[in-house]
Amino acid sequence: MSKKRIAILISGRGSNMQALIEAARAPDYPAEIALVISNRPQAPGLELARAAGVQAVAIDHRQYTTRPAFEARLHQTLVDARIDLICNAGFMRLLTGGFVDRWLDRHLNIHPSLLPAFPGLDTHQRAIDEGVRFTGCTVHFLRLEMDTGPIVAQAAVEVRTDDTADTLAARVLEAEHQLYPHALRLVASGKARVENHAVVYDGPFNHQPTQYSPGRGPTA
Ligand code: GAR
Repeated sequence: MSKKRIAILISGRGSNMQALIEAARAPDYPAEIALVISNRPQAPGLELARAAGVQAVAIDHRQYTTRPAFEARLHQTLVDARIDLICNAGFMRLLTGGFVDRWLDRHLNIHPSLLPAFPGLDTHQRAIDEGVRFTGCTVHFLRLEMDTGPIVAQAAVEVRTDDTADTLAARVLEAEHQLYPHALRLVASGKARVENHAVVYDGPFNHQPTQYSPGRGPTA
């Protein structure tokens, strides 16, 4: 089966993008990272992508007077690059229904909490303030409402009593770097797909006593 062509949308650092680029180097990985797009020209992730040999472009949203105009440019760039699937990785721009509908079920996002808990910003401080003992990260198909949509995979991370938002964010980020390549593998290979507003899976999963669900294993 031919590899799915992936575009990664970023706005900043790009560490999740880098994890996907590295994972996609494996010969058996079912996706190739064809393009990185940032809505911020100064995003450090753009240089990281180029250094890794991936085409990377900025589409500066401030150059467009309306959201649909920005999104039309984004859409055309994706179409021109023959993109199959979009992965948001720290892309901090809300998208309108027109764009979301065009890429429905072909568009993933990663969020640093166990959704539906703590959508939006300041997730780690809010998790600490609420006293939850576990938080984590979620990869989900994108929907119009921010940080909602059918969940592909989650990883749990314990919250320690001495955690600050920064120490917790660092441990969740490590889990994100494991989870996103795993989730993209499931989707790009066709083993995870949306049916009736939820994700269904093909094939067995190796449900080891890990904090990943569905489990990571040779068949996943
Ligand atoms: C990541 O923690 C990602 O989950 C989060 O932004 C960070 C980007 O880091 N995304 C969101 O909060 C989306 N709601 P990165 O640029 O190093 O990948």
